[in-house]
Amino acid sequence: MLHITYTSFQVTLVLTALVMDLKQAKKEIERLTRLINHHNTQFFQKNHSQISDYAFDQLVNQLQQLENSFPKLRKSSSPTQRVGEAPSKHFKTVYHKYPMLSLDNTYAAAGVEHFVQRVQKNAPDRPDNFFCEPKFDGVAISLLYAGGKLQQVVTRGDSQRGDEITANAKTIDSIPKQVTSTSWPAEFEVRGEVFMPLANFQALNKTLEQQGKPLLANPRNAASGTLKMLDTKLVAQRTLDFYPYTLLTPKCEITTHADRMQALATWGFQLSPACQSCSSLEDVLQYIHYWETQRHSLPMVIDGVVIKVNDIAHQQRMGMTAKSPRWAIAYKYKPLNACTQLKDVVYQVGRTGVITPVAQLEPIHLAGTVVRRASLYNADTIKRLKLRVGSMVYIEKGGDIIPKITSVQHNLSNQPIIIFPTHCPACNTRLKRDTGTAMHYCSNTQCPPQLKGQIAHFVHRKALDIASIGLKTIDALYTANLVRTPSDLYQLRYTDLQSLEGFQATSIRKLLQGIAASKQAPFSRVLFALGIRHIGITVAQKLAEHFKDIDQLSNANAKELQAIEEIGDKIAQSIVMFFSKPANQRLIQKLQKAGLCFSIHKQTQQKRLAGYSFVISGTFPGVDRKILEAWITQHGGQIKQGISKATHYLLAGDKPGPKKWSQAKEMQIPIISLPQLRNMHRH
Ligand code: IVH
Repeated sequence: MLHITYTSFQVTLVLTALVMDLKQAKKEIERLTRLINHHNTQFFQKNHSQISDYAFDQLVNQLQQLENSFPKLRKSSSPTQRVGEAPSKHFKTVYHKYPMLSLDNTYAAAGVEHFVQRVQKNAPDRPDNFFCEPKFDGVAISLLYAGGKLQQVVTRGDSQRGDEITANAKTIDSIPKQVTSTSWPAEFEVRGEVFMPLANFQALNKTLEQQGKPLLANPRNAASGTLKMLDTKLVAQRTLDFYPYTLLTPKCEITTHADRMQALATWGFQLSPACQSCSSLEDVLQYIHYWETQRHSLPMVIDGVVIKVNDIAHQQRMGMTAKSPRWAIAYKYKPLNACTQLKDVVYQVGRTGVITPVAQLEPIHLAGTVVRRASLYNADTIKRLKLRVGSMVYIEKGGDIIPKITSVQHNLSNQPIIIFPTHCPACNTRLKRDTGTAMHYCSNTQCPPQLKGQIAHFVHRKALDIASIGLKTIDALYTANLVRTPSDLYQLRYTDLQSLEGFQATSIRKLLQGIAASKQAPFSRVLFALGIRHIGITVAQKLAEHFKDIDQLSNANAKELQAIEEIGDKIAQSIVMFFSKPANQRLIQKLQKAGLCFSIHKQTQQKRLAGYSFVISGTFPGVDRKILEAWITQHGGQIKQGISKATHYLLAGDKPGPKKWSQAKEMQIPIISLPQLRNMHRH
């Protein structure tokens, strides 16, 4: 029997299925179907996964095994019979020319062995020719080209039809808009995976954290959420990447998969360097094991490898099932997990008052790092896990960068179950639950971590950029009762700081200079610095351009706000709420008195590039480099030689230096052109 060659887990399943009667099996199939459908909705529509991919695959496997044993009970609507998500109402629905299938997967070497044997049986003439690729953990898309030009990009969707996301996909540099080289088929389709490189994902989460917004669980969710954003400009800011893995073209003369990939490379696509031809089972297994240990050295998350039959005619002979091709198999790596002791759960209070539970763990090595903390997301997660202090818990680091607790291995029954607090751990105010989300928040505007968080946001690089004030300084100023709100920063005098421990003449001078320089910041950055919920820097710029000054903005009602592009109900409500609070009005008055800029009219008298630093790279035809540098400094900008975290923009001309370019991309520093520089901060 086929299943015997699989894991003992699967053998148990088959045996369980055999001893079940029809009635029991029906009940179990219904239970599994409900559960899988629930997790599919969470994953695809809510960008959130409550269980690991491994646990999910096991549920699907269980259902599949049961359906195999009781074929009459298999419904056409079963989750084993379809893949993917329903199309979104925000994008045009487009049918795929050929369905975008899924891959059969295995977690065991025996599964691969079985696959290789099957391939050899079907092709005595070509016993051993495979092409192995990483299984990229991102979002599958299809690209249609005609006349060498990119025409249409569609998500996988429910495998038959997906969302048309051409404009968003065009922001991805590694997707050629026009193929290079001289010969290509008149029409062809490329399928592949969009992903968010790990470095970009980490930087994005850092920004979200600083903005007090919920973090993204993993790069895959980040990529799929980004592709479905309604504003293409925002998509462009969140740099995504792409690797192709299929070329489809009618009457193609390229007869192997490896050669098709090579053709794509000559047409301008980038290929993953981890792809490789393999000639035997031994070769394939070696490839699998090599990448199992080395996968963390890749710049993106992979959750396994894909083994494909190389010869296209052979692929066609093997054919496909309703769900997946018979000529390929995915070997998936088990998520990296470990068991450790839960020491405590602490509740962090963000600057907007949101409470995040964080598990404190007995430190443990997992995939190259020491894990001390794990996210518990919200009250619902705590309730589901029934955690107790001292319990042994499984933590997992799959595609997820922030480890999560997936289950409890052993509980100490003498300890009470941990319950999410009813009151704020910092100020004891009764917590409220945000309608619609599972988040709890503290509504006390004087709550210390919220106040400190607001100051940290105010001085942040993207806000007023007062680099001389870090978290330690904020703590010291708060403890010494010198600063409670951002406006207090502008009252600080040299003598106030002299008595503080660790503050010397130079650091005090630097601190006061930084505060004074922040008065030059344009209105949009001051607006962002106020920390209004849901207002990122782009929205702040839009608001500043539209309303011109703070009085016009604070008098706007929700309807007027929503009339602006990109501002929806949530943002409008948040703005109206912010200005309705007397404490916020007082803060604005004090900041105005301190000399901060609350109008774009006042700004024009200021130097338009004040407070921004630029690194220049490449050549600018018709513009002398020296004159360009002088223009930037005349307008208040600073020129720096090398890229660092403090750089605001990379000004790139023709043939920019590749090192500077990749550093800027890595650090998410905006890369601008000469026309963009000219238009900067004109308001
Ligand atoms: S080939 C017929 N190659 O895995 C299926 N898929 O479960 C052809 N994936 O939707 C897909 N890396 O999103 C293929 N090297 C690779 C892949 C890959 C990731 C994803 C893809 C697909 C899913 C199938």
